[in-house]
Amino acid sequence: MNRVEGRVKVAGLATYAAEYPVEGVTYAYPVQSRIAKGRIRRIDGRDALAMPGVLAVLSSEDPPRLGPAAEGELALFQSREVAYRGQFVAAAVADTYENARAAADAIVVEYDQDLHDVALRADHPNLYQPETVNPGFPSDTVKGDVEAGLNAAETVVDVTYTTPVLHNNPMEPHAALAVWDGEGRLLLYDTTQGTSSSRDLIARTLGLPAEQVRVVSRHVGGGFGSKGTSRPQAVLAALAARAVGRPVKVVLTRQQMFDVTGYRTPTIQRLRLGADADGRLTALEHVAYEQSSTLVEFAEQTATPTRIMYATPAMRTAHRLVRLDVATPSWMRAPGECPGMYALESAMDELACATGIDPIELRVRNEPETEPDSGLPFSSRNLVACLREGARLFGWDRRDPEPGRHREGEWLIGTGVAASTYPAKRRPSKAVVTMREGDFLVQVAAADIGTGARTALAGIAAGALGVAPERVRVELGDSDLPDAPLAGGSMGTASWGSAIVRACEHLKVNGSVGRADTTEEVARDAELSRHAFGAQFAEVRVNSVTGELRVSRLLGVFAAGRILDAKLARSQFVGGMTMGMGMALMEETYTDEEFGGFLRRDLAQYHVPACADVERIEAVWLEEEDGDLNPMGSKGIGEIGIVGTAAAVGNAVYHAIGHRVRDLPITPAKIL
Ligand code: MOS
Repeated sequence: MNRVEGRVKVAGLATYAAEYPVEGVTYAYPVQSRIAKGRIRRIDGRDALAMPGVLAVLSSEDPPRLGPAAEGELALFQSREVAYRGQFVAAAVADTYENARAAADAIVVEYDQDLHDVALRADHPNLYQPETVNPGFPSDTVKGDVEAGLNAAETVVDVTYTTPVLHNNPMEPHAALAVWDGEGRLLLYDTTQGTSSSRDLIARTLGLPAEQVRVVSRHVGGGFGSKGTSRPQAVLAALAARAVGRPVKVVLTRQQMFDVTGYRTPTIQRLRLGADADGRLTALEHVAYEQSSTLVEFAEQTATPTRIMYATPAMRTAHRLVRLDVATPSWMRAPGECPGMYALESAMDELACATGIDPIELRVRNEPETEPDSGLPFSSRNLVACLREGARLFGWDRRDPEPGRHREGEWLIGTGVAASTYPAKRRPSKAVVTMREGDFLVQVAAADIGTGARTALAGIAAGALGVAPERVRVELGDSDLPDAPLAGGSMGTASWGSAIVRACEHLKVNGSVGRADTTEEVARDAELSRHAFGAQFAEVRVNSVTGELRVSRLLGVFAAGRILDAKLARSQFVGGMTMGMGMALMEETYTDEEFGGFLRRDLAQYHVPACADVERIEAVWLEEEDGDLNPMGSKGIGEIGIVGTAAAVGNAVYHAIGHRVRDLPITPAKIL
């Protein structure tokens, strides 16, 4: 299908959070901390308040009232303590954006500064083992005797990889528009991946009952996880609007987004792999070091994909965390799986080179029968089929395994492969379907973050009702609609779609309205290991004189259950793969150890791939039947495309030049 919202989007008619026309709107502009650690001695807003059009100054001098559950980055202006550089410490509210910005500049903030610590190190004295890692996995797992397995191995690979701080950078900046009505009810236009969850969190933060808050998020210009939870702009808009008694709009600049809307934690990952003479693993160990803030423990699940990938008699996975004077890291497309699989799949390639076994064959030999960690059966697992089909399409059999052999003039050419995986789960959701004059209205508080959710859900409803998709209209992006989980964890379509199918079934027996709540259905899901799998192939060209690096081919082959819409699916896969290419070659936010903040805080310095960087990119998928997932038989596809791409590119670079770069991104300086 073509996207049902495609026309309004390309015509500029789709309304985003900051664009709702509201009578009497005013603007808030934040002041950000210039220190990374310490406390605020004094904030003086008198000069700012005397400036033209200024309506209010908010700060911890007179903390705005929040609920007792307000915490972390959302507890705006409650404390004089500064937890990281860039934290919001005050805000000015004025009649125009420019006046608010000028007034914010005139607010005087004095600090008592402490020494900060913002550097992640594998030997940091304050590293600790978190109790769990997101979203609730044990931090550490041990099976068998890893040391014995390594001692018994014919070949051992012991390697450490690092990945930098990465920023999500959705095209639409974080923005919110808050409107209070006469009865103390808040209408919040916010850019968020989940309206029900945002409503609950904002209500908790403000100390209001959930019914007093309505969150509207009809179009979202990307999130990649950074809009998976409410961000400070939403709370600031609500507080400022309450303070001045008028609607308030907050639109973050790109630079502000780098500070307060989350980022992917940097990682240091040590992998130890042992293999016998046939390439069968005798031991597999994956230890990940990562950071969080002093405000909130955010423990990314970096080593968890290793628990499900390969058969081995001995396996240990572990996470170590350090709380630094930094902003809290957060979700970024395939949090955990993406950096974790970069390290594992790079190490598997190193093992293939060390054993002299073809990297595809090595993976096939270590294919498990059941999920290695839990012993649970897979609902479906077609990794081997993806590798084989990819090898065929990519022309893998023509590859000379020896690195550094393929040269065209100045250019060295290499190819690489990596496996990909992402969980395929669902969450409870509600939905209502109403028949009106032969057409159907589907209502669900889902969010379309650019994936084409409206289109996919219309297709699901049409299938369940047995009608043409043109007769179905989907209304979403409003917390007043039936409660739905957020667009995250690649679970959106599976969760909302399940509720829509059940609501359609109910409508068929009920006549004109069908309602569903899948809470009980989801709770009855049998215990199975549910994951999508894929294989990523890359061809790179490396200039031996300049170090210039080009990805000339990317191919992803995925086994992700039933693909609901080919056009939408291709966009998700190709988008994820492109983002993975950015991770491999370009994306990196430096942490400034001297001043404690992030350096590279805009798109001029933080490079993401442009169309010209992407040469030949293809995503294909296998027909996969999996009846154990949900009524559609679908697996999520929003995140798997990024998983494994950076490893495939890195493995191709090694194959091109014969030198292994273990610290992302792989820039020309690291090649020469
Ligand atoms: Mo995604 S990082 O689960 O929004």
